[in-house]
Amino acid sequence: MADSSKLPQGFFGYHTASSEAAHSAGKVWWDRNGADYLDEHGDFLGDTDFCWCPEGLRESDAALLGPLDQLASRRVLEIGAGAAQCSRWLAEHGVSVVATDISSTMVAQARLRNDRTGIDFPLQEADARDLPFGDSSFDVVFTAYGALPFVSEHEQIHREAARVLRSDGRWVFSVSHPIRWAFPDVPGEAGLTANRSYFDTTPYIETDDSGNVVYAEHHRTLGDQVRALRRAGFHLVDIVEPEWPSDHTRVWGGWSPLRGKMIPGTAIFVAEKI
Ligand SMILES: C[S@@+](CC[C@H](N)C(=O)[O-])C[C@H]1O[C@@H](n2cnc3c(N)ncnc32)[C@H](O)[C@@H]1O
Repeated sequence: MADSSKLPQGFFGYHTASSEAAHSAGKVWWDRNGADYLDEHGDFLGDTDFCWCPEGLRESDAALLGPLDQLASRRVLEIGAGAAQCSRWLAEHGVSVVATDISSTMVAQARLRNDRTGIDFPLQEADARDLPFGDSSFDVVFTAYGALPFVSEHEQIHREAARVLRSDGRWVFSVSHPIRWAFPDVPGEAGLTANRSYFDTTPYIETDDSGNVVYAEHHRTLGDQVRALRRAGFHLVDIVEPEWPSDHTRVWGGWSPLRGKMIPGTAIFVAEKI
C-alpha cells in the first residue's frame, strides 16, 4: 500500500503523489462534488446536448463519431459520461448507446435527467480502466472530458477502449489541450503568460485534512498522447483544436474568450482501432 500519510494535508498544487494514493481520487471527488459541478455548468451542458468542450463545439456540427445517419446502426459506448448529456442527445437521434461513469452521484444525476426528459438508455456505474463489457462489443467509444484526465493509468483506458471496440472501431475523446498546462488556469490576463514547463508532467493534486488524495488531474504532452494511442493499437485520424467562436462569451474556469483568442483550450483526439 502507498504511504499516503506522507502527503501534505490540505495541499493543492503539483505533486508526484503515488498512483496508488490517487487511484480512487476521481470517484471520491465526483461523488462528493458532482451535484455542485452540475449546478455550476448544467445550464451550459443542457440535458440533451452533445457538446465536446467549453468552446461549445457540438457533435451535430463536427460529426467526429461519424455521420449521424450511419450511427443509427452502430453500438456506441460513452465512458466518464457524467450526467450523460451527450449520450442522451445520441439516444434522442435513435442511436443505440450505453453511458457509463465511475461516480454513483453522476450516474444518479444521469438517471434523473433520463426521467426528466423521458429519453431512456442504459446507464451503468463503471471504471473506464476496467470496463464490464465483452471484447469487440462496440463500434464507437467516446468521452467528452471524462475519465482520462483523472487517472494516472490513461494507457489502461486506451487499452480498454481498444478491447471493447471491433476492429476499425472509433475512439474519440476530448481533453484539455496539452499547451494549457504551461499557463495559469485563470480566465484573465494572468492566464496568458506561461509559468510552467509544458514538458513537466507532474500531476495537479489536492489532499484532504488527513493527507489523502481527493482530486488528481494529469497532463500528457501531445507526443505522450499519440504514443499512448499507438501502443494501445490505434491509428490517429485527427486532432481537432476547436477555435473560440467570436460570439461565445461564456467563461468556464480558466477557459474564456480572452484566452480562447490566443491559445487552444481543448484537443479532441479521433482514433481508429487497427
Ligand atoms: C468533466 S466530467 C465529463 C462528463 C461530461 N461530459 C461533462 O462535461 O460534464 C468528468 C467525468 O469523468 C468521470 N470519471 C473520472 N474518473 C473516471 C474513471 N476512472 N472511469 C470512469 N469515469 C470517470 C467523473 O465521475 C465525471 O463524471
